[in-house]
Amino acid sequence: MNKTFYLNKLKEKILLLNKNFPKKNLVFSDGNKNAKIMIIGEAPGRTENKLKIPFVGRAGKVLDRLLYSISLDRQKVYITNVVNYRPDKNRKPNLSEINLFKKYLFNHIEIIKPKFILLLGSTAAQAVLGYQGPLNLIIGKFFEKKIINTTLKIMIIYHPAYLLRQPRKIKIVNKNLNTLKKYIN
Ligand code: URA
Repeated sequence: MNKTFYLNKLKEKILLLNKNFPKKNLVFSDGNKNAKIMIIGEAPGRTENKLKIPFVGRAGKVLDRLLYSISLDRQKVYITNVVNYRPDKNRKPNLSEINLFKKYLFNHIEIIKPKFILLLGSTAAQAVLGYQGPLNLIIGKFFEKKIINTTLKIMIIYHPAYLLRQPRKIKIVNKNLNTLKKYIN
């Protein structure tokens, strides 16, 4: 399958949703489209909207450090968000936005065909796993989910932006990522 072709088609479809996010740029993805690990965040922030690349602001720096701690970098993973436009006033995406983008996200996963999905925070957990309960109950656990035709392994960790507010939680994330590292090796 020609991933670039299908990714461009997907981008065109998501560009049509721009009418719901006036004056915002499409922030589609970053990293390696042939990576085994796909990372899914929430939605772009101010810097991401400006540069049109996910996770390039403060939370992105945290994400880069977390990846580095388990010998990964952006060439070894593929990164996107549930919602591909920055919601107004930096708010979290609401349920109708999550539901609107979900089918495009699943299409995105189908094109990339990762072996493993790392979800960052509650919006990603809600979109991919349909989970709406307390995050601490599912942090660091492995899930399996059939997405379109493939059964994928999934883990959820705290969102890097949350770690900026709650730096003490980094210990938990490091532990989760070490488990992930053992699994992918
Ligand atoms: N937070 C996200 O969830 N995604 C980004 O791209 C940046 C910050």
